[in-house]
Amino acid sequence: MMEWSDRHCRMLHRLLCDNALLYTEMVTAMAVIRGDRARLLGFDAREHPVALQLGGAEPEGLAEAAKIGADFGYDEINLNVGCPSDRVQSGRFGACLMREPALVADCVAAMREAVSIPVTVKCRIGVDDQDPAVSLRTLIAACQGTDTFIVHARKAWLEGLSPKENRDVPPLDYELVYAIKRENPALTIVLNGGIASFDQAEAHLKQVDGVMLGRVAYQTPAILAEVDARFFGGASHSVEAAVEAYLEYVARQLTNGVPLNAMTRHMLGLFNGRPGARLFRRHLSENATRPGAGIAVLREALAHLTRREEVAT
Ligand SMILES: Cc1cc2nc3c(=O)[nH]c(=O)nc-3n(C[C@H](O)[C@H](O)[C@H](O)COP(=O)(O)O)c2cc1C
Repeated sequence: MMEWSDRHCRMLHRLLCDNALLYTEMVTAMAVIRGDRARLLGFDAREHPVALQLGGAEPEGLAEAAKIGADFGYDEINLNVGCPSDRVQSGRFGACLMREPALVADCVAAMREAVSIPVTVKCRIGVDDQDPAVSLRTLIAACQGTDTFIVHARKAWLEGLSPKENRDVPPLDYELVYAIKRENPALTIVLNGGIASFDQAEAHLKQVDGVMLGRVAYQTPAILAEVDARFFGGASHSVEAAVEAYLEYVARQLTNGVPLNAMTRHMLGLFNGRPGARLFRRHLSENATRPGAGIAVLREALAHLTRREEVAT
């Protein structure tokens, strides 16, 4: 998720669960080819399994970027066919590719040819006035050889809605995604969009192979501490232990020149609902952006969690 699932966010999430597949922000193929690769693609080995999401619509460039990503050690390359932003539309990729299934097919074929790791597609069910029952099926049928589709189960309205509205306003159609799975039992179909709880996730998992959580995972990351136990037959994680490990990570990254706020901003929702959470957030918001802010700021913020919320109001 752009601006959200950067390497620091992913590190925090990984410390909370071992098994969920994590995704990078979308990076354009052109940026991968021409940009500062260490900055755009670098990640911590502990983040595995981690997928690199690419944006683009040009088979050769996507193939080259996929190869670079595979060489960096990513576990999967994912093609974005769902982003509705204007910037992406002017580059003719993202969600508007729902209108060009043959081009998507060429892109994924070129990417698959270039790498030996899985190449997957994240798509919408359609755009604008498309009939989702047709557009989603057409896209999937076109992408012969691609066996995993992550479907954000709503249309994107490219005219008239902002990217944010496009994540909430077009209605969700989970039934269509369930039907796609029934019709294509050999495909791995992952459902995304509006999944608000693990109970909901569990219900979807009776119909599809996987679920992807976006905003809920970012805004309330502590829920991830239960993912291994609930879905992977593993053990729950302790949020406290994850935070201790993240403190070590933050301390090391500070010595590499990473600003404190670049890491602590992903923690703001971590203690939601717990006494002191508001003071924790406020302390970080007010202090972590200051020049030279160090690990002490994070420790002071954490100390608020042991005090009563009303003390400082
Ligand atoms: C801030 C933000 C950035 C996003 N960036 C991306 C992105 O780079 N690539 C992508 O495929 N989806 C992106 N999305 C969409 C999410 O991946 C997801 O499809 C959408 O939020 C619906 O899932 P949810 O209801 O679980 O959040 C973004 C969402 C948000 C809120």
